[in-house]
Amino acid sequence: MLAILIHFFLVWKKIIYSYTSLATFSYHKALGRTAVGPAHGSLSIIDNRTKRTYRIPIVRNAVRALDFRQITAAQQGADVVDQFDNGLRIVDKGYLNTACMESSITHIDGKRGHIQYRNYSIEELFEHNDYEEVIHLLIWGKLPTPVQKQILRQKLVAEMKPHPCVVDVIHSFPPESLTCPMILAGLSAYASVDEGTRATHSKGEPQYLGKGNTVDEAVIRTLSMLATTIALVYCHKRGRFFSPARPDESFIGNVLLMMGFLEPGTKRPQPNRKVEKCFEQLWILYADHEMTNSTAAFLHAASTLTDPLSCCITGIVSAYGPLHGGAIDLAYKEFETVGTPENVSTLIADVKAKKQRLFGYGHRIYKVVDPRTKFIRQLMDKHRDEVQTNPLLKVAMEIDRVAGEDPYFTSRHLKANADLYGCFLYTALGFETDIIIAMASLSRTPGVLAHWREAMGQSPGLWRPQQIFTGAVVAPNQAQT
Ligand code: ACO
Repeated sequence: MLAILIHFFLVWKKIIYSYTSLATFSYHKALGRTAVGPAHGSLSIIDNRTKRTYRIPIVRNAVRALDFRQITAAQQGADVVDQFDNGLRIVDKGYLNTACMESSITHIDGKRGHIQYRNYSIEELFEHNDYEEVIHLLIWGKLPTPVQKQILRQKLVAEMKPHPCVVDVIHSFPPESLTCPMILAGLSAYASVDEGTRATHSKGEPQYLGKGNTVDEAVIRTLSMLATTIALVYCHKRGRFFSPARPDESFIGNVLLMMGFLEPGTKRPQPNRKVEKCFEQLWILYADHEMTNSTAAFLHAASTLTDPLSCCITGIVSAYGPLHGGAIDLAYKEFETVGTPENVSTLIADVKAKKQRLFGYGHRIYKVVDPRTKFIRQLMDKHRDEVQTNPLLKVAMEIDRVAGEDPYFTSRHLKANADLYGCFLYTALGFETDIIIAMASLSRTPGVLAHWREAMGQSPGLWRPQQIFTGAVVAPNQAQT
């Protein structure tokens, strides 16, 4: 009996090994390179404090942080602040080497410049698909049939309704107010009347966890409400007329229609077709970027099982920060301050002296050129005349030239990020810089919602990082009040 069991075990091990090797082989073959070794195995650890050894499984070239808890070295006199009773802790300030989710949505290979959504490379999608198809692919895992695409469009437009309380809140801001806080206020107003949000905070049972249909409806509502809020804010800031969304227009067409980016000379308002065509491709490039700071912020909030509109607010707050999406706004302001290509050297000298960062440069993931850049450049070429009327483009190009040659930037792999180039397309197509982060956030939201939908189908549990306390511990009866 034992011999039979061992035989079965060995056969299965062989099958699983050849399966994983095959998968690894075809992945590497697809990227034109050879595999370097097995992704599965184990890690042997010797704790030199105790001389005890441990074996920790490696799966997909990763170890589980919880497996390290078994490593303990508690001894008499150990400082309680170091929490020996909890086992060995992992420190990763700023999540520089920590995966917080398992996901099958987007894969980025930052060393080789490869991005794929589900089973499609971004190149294929950029050439052959439109944004609605990519929304469907990211969120529901498959490109839609024509009927599914039509249904998605109808559902999205049905939720693009400017609720009176949202309109009132946005209109209560002076038009010159900062864009992002206005959007956050508009979303809060939507959340205050949204049925799903109310149910989340009034019923005891989870509203979304494990409930596919409810999640799908909320995905549509959140995306449409964000689009409508941005359009309302834009119209209020620019004194434009808000045209309601229509079922015969695409998602992007409706965003433009609501914002008042219209085709000139038509009786019935129509979205500006040139801008629509450009965004159908541009937004594919931005639709997801796996676990960014803002996606993680969204999911962090979502792990409390709160509603997706509130999570969206959290995500947008993070996207607005100067080291994240907000960098693009600051980069543009930097170009304005520099003014002419002749002044670039002063800016570069300040950056190298660490007086300031060069906004729009550097990326946590990409150490080669961001693979989206070549497509954005293609789009910039298509709109060459409009792009070149922007005098700041010359400043940006001079910065790019200097950064491409200067060892400060080359040795640190600091290159312009894709969002920076996208900024020139937005301005060329008539968008003021203060709305670009909002547009970028909207284009990213389908991807973020795909991650939320995935999380609600798993069971992630409350996210609760830890800290290493480095202060002095006082006995409880000595604690200051
Ligand atoms: N300008 C000047 N120096 C920089 C820049 C920059 N933009 N980015 C990094 N460096 C330098 C750092 O000073 C550091 O130098 P050192 O080795 O002498 O100490 C080195 O490069 C590494 O910097 P880190 O901050 O450790 O790099 P990291 O990969 O963690 O940071 C980040 C990535 C945050 C994007 C960074 O490059 C940065 O601050 N860029 C400017 C802000 C920006 O453009 N953000 C947009 C990112 S894209 C997006 O979120 C949409």
